[in-house]
Amino acid sequence: MIEISVTCQAEKERRLLYEELMPQFISIMEGESSLIANMANISALIKEFFGFLWVGFYLVDNDRNDLVLGPFQGSAACTRIGYGRGVCGSAWKEEKSMVVRNVEEFPGHIACSSLSKSEIVVPLRDRSGQIIGVLDIDSDKPADFDDVDREFLEILAERICKTAN
Ligand code: SME
Repeated sequence: MIEISVTCQAEKERRLLYEELMPQFISIMEGESSLIANMANISALIKEFFGFLWVGFYLVDNDRNDLVLGPFQGSAACTRIGYGRGVCGSAWKEEKSMVVRNVEEFPGHIACSSLSKSEIVVPLRDRSGQIIGVLDIDSDKPADFDDVDREFLEILAERICKTAN
């Protein structure tokens, strides 16, 4: 019972934080059409405000059928991830966001850092709905992401892609 109410409180606080920060996230992209510049600033803002372990983007490389590392904040990470591989490649293949409460329980999880305990990956789509990359966030806390994060990060991902379309 106590655990449930603590979880609800944490969810409420995370939601309030997103609601407060979203206008800043959106305003920093205002009038800027460079996808790379916007991804760089968004990863910096998310990392700064939420203090997650790693925040960044992987971009679809159609020539090699994999994801290549894009702008990020955090420690050096794997440069390429194959289609369907790890959480990022799975989000790309399955064309949906993935919320991983315990990375050790995700088959094929790619551990760029042993400190990572939970993870969320949200696909980025172009105007036609084609996936052009993913936003990947790692936390050093177990079960740090839920539907609140998914909801707001999907809105943010859509907004990031709009700047380039
Ligand atoms: N854990 C990811 C790999 C990328 S790092 O987390 C930065 C995955 O399994 O796809």
